[in-house]
Amino acid sequence: MSVYNPDIKKITTHILQEMKLKGEKISMLTGYDFTMAKILDKAGVDVILVGDSASNVMAGHETTLPITLDHMIYHASSVVRGVERALVVVDLPFGTYQGNSKEALSSSIRIMKESGAHAVKMEGGREILEGINRILTAGIPVMGHLGLTPQSIYKFGTYVVRAREEEEAERLIEDAKLLEEAGCFAIVLEKVPAKLAGVVAQSVKIPIIGIGAGPQVDGQVLVSHDMLGINNDFNPRFLRKYHNLQEEMLGAFQNYIKDVKEKDFPNEHEQY
Ligand code: KIV
Repeated sequence: MSVYNPDIKKITTHILQEMKLKGEKISMLTGYDFTMAKILDKAGVDVILVGDSASNVMAGHETTLPITLDHMIYHASSVVRGVERALVVVDLPFGTYQGNSKEALSSSIRIMKESGAHAVKMEGGREILEGINRILTAGIPVMGHLGLTPQSIYKFGTYVVRAREEEEAERLIEDAKLLEEAGCFAIVLEKVPAKLAGVVAQSVKIPIIGIGAGPQVDGQVLVSHDMLGINNDFNPRFLRKYHNLQEEMLGAFQNYIKDVKEKDFPNEHEQY
């Protein structure tokens, strides 16, 4: 079953822009390793995000803050080796860009050079504009990230819906416009009211890719492990689970253990 346009051999930032113009929704999912990236790419996902959610999902940290640039480059280079068609976007991790535009550029250059990825993503609005401008001068495409920005969890204090109040909503719309003016090719908009997300998507020409931001945006992103039901501890309202892979994996592992214990595995065909 092909649910994407197979004529597009390689997704670029320009193609994402065209998708917005045509009203074709952009699909984006996270990937952190070669095997998963190959499956995501084969399925035809438009964008693979090497998210710093790897800090939670792959490394078991409570927040995204501990993951390092070296870790992100390791994950990103593994993903890039599995991809032919999708655009690969990599999160700049906490502490590698905020407050220092030169560091923002050198972190981005390391990601592009050492992983072979196609773009970087950064959390924040006006406060990181200098860094975004500097990265763009090096020809590196930048995706923004507004709304709930998990790298600032200790400032927010909680992961609740952002920008419910008018003042914060207006600031968010302004930030989206500033990121567009600076030259970002797209923006992730996380956990904001659906109506506001629709206004943001209409206020800028670049694609707005939502997570917990309702349907009136230009695309959707989810964490692959969450939508596959591998991790069943995270159940926000916005998450649609497409599988209960944890149950299937548990069953398979338990069957294997049983077969080993009962001396059923390996049998006469499974040996040399
Ligand atoms: O790190 C990540 O996976 C993300 C998505 C949740 C958008 O930033």
